[in-house]
Amino acid sequence: MVENYTEKHDVVVVGGGAAGLMCAATAAARGRSVVLLEHNRKPGAKILISGGGRCNFTNQDTTAAAYLSENPHFAKSALSRYTPWDFMDMLARHGVTWHEKTLGQLFCDQGAKRILEVLLRECEDAGAEVRTGTGVKSVQCRNGHYEVATSSGLLQASSLVVATGGLSIPKMGATSFAYDIARQFSIPVTEPAPALVPFTFADTDLAFMKSLAGVATDCVVSLGAATFRENLLFTHRGLSGPAILQISSYWSSGKAITVNLLPDEPDALLWLRTTREGRPKAGLKSILAERLPSRLAEAVADHWPGPIGTMSNKVLATVAQRLVSWQLTPSGTEGFAKAEVTRGGVSTAALSSKTLEAKTQAGLYFIGEAVDVTGWLGGYNFQWAWASGWAAAQDL
Ligand code: FDA
Repeated sequence: MVENYTEKHDVVVVGGGAAGLMCAATAAARGRSVVLLEHNRKPGAKILISGGGRCNFTNQDTTAAAYLSENPHFAKSALSRYTPWDFMDMLARHGVTWHEKTLGQLFCDQGAKRILEVLLRECEDAGAEVRTGTGVKSVQCRNGHYEVATSSGLLQASSLVVATGGLSIPKMGATSFAYDIARQFSIPVTEPAPALVPFTFADTDLAFMKSLAGVATDCVVSLGAATFRENLLFTHRGLSGPAILQISSYWSSGKAITVNLLPDEPDALLWLRTTREGRPKAGLKSILAERLPSRLAEAVADHWPGPIGTMSNKVLATVAQRLVSWQLTPSGTEGFAKAEVTRGGVSTAALSSKTLEAKTQAGLYFIGEAVDVTGWLGGYNFQWAWASGWAAAQDL
């Protein structure tokens, strides 16, 4: 064994997830010598569990409007240069097929494992080494080179790409490495927070939701200008389901969300009044059950027993309000343990949108979820990982 032996590469990528693997393969294909360090025993853990094991690998309607960031324009450059079709071309070269589930979301027919195999094959074919079970102890920049001390020795590279993702799901290997490195080099970090995460509730709201745990319903949920029409799911802790995960990315403590349980009903009050005229003996429960899951209809109608014919205009207005403009203030979220992604991250103000290189630190790049660019649910986060990884690789 040679003491103090320093391995030299053009590029060290830290993090073997979606962004890191894409970046490593692309940079190696451009002729760079690349080593990727992943502290888990296997790369791509989140790819494997994504999309319920089928990996919603992109969204064919991707535009920068589907991303949250302090700078809403930041993602445009990378997203426009590496599009969903570029990723599909790569999959097609490997014989992988896919299908659209809903809302432009593309899922892999052969499962998430196949997506990871494609990325690892791309790395192998291009000559990028994927080194797993290798943690990074420290990073120094000396004479324009990055020295990366790992659990298995010292590496030197002219470029260091940080692709270690955000804080969500720590038990899968998430760390604050990207933010720590950013701070070490005086690069600002926008406060990270859980996103695409279920809400928790307290008191009477929680009791109501608990009683409906497992019930899902189509709805429109909104907060300020953000609005999503998808399913809502009642849980033992509060609310989840795609509509709730989407709006959670826009939520901060103390804010109320508005839920419309009758998204296809243009005038709920008119509908209730007309029903009262036509079927005065009908109970609210059976009327609501025509538009809502029966358990939900029953729970809502519980507050207003008796036939609809006995209900005043004022009562019907209250019922309508509850159905189309249900105001709810979550007590919190289920946190990073359950968040699909992390909002915030390395500040876009400190990075080049074209190359993802730090403006004040030559040779240091941040890509993927580590950056303050957070996509909606539906394949957008992987598309950002591919696009930002590819964009950085063009500069390496
Ligand atoms: P990612 O987190 O994937 O990779 C970072 C890697 O760095 C990990 O392998 C980690 O172990 C490693 N690492 C961390 N710290 C390290 C250190 N100090 N040293 C070495 N290695 C380190 N998105 C989407 O578009 N479609 C989908 O279907 C889903 N589904 C989904 C399901 C679930 C349950 C979750 C939790 C998330 C999703 N996502 C998703 C989000 C998507 O998985 C996520 O946005 C991307 O994986 C981000 O890719 P990155 O490569 O940036 O980080």
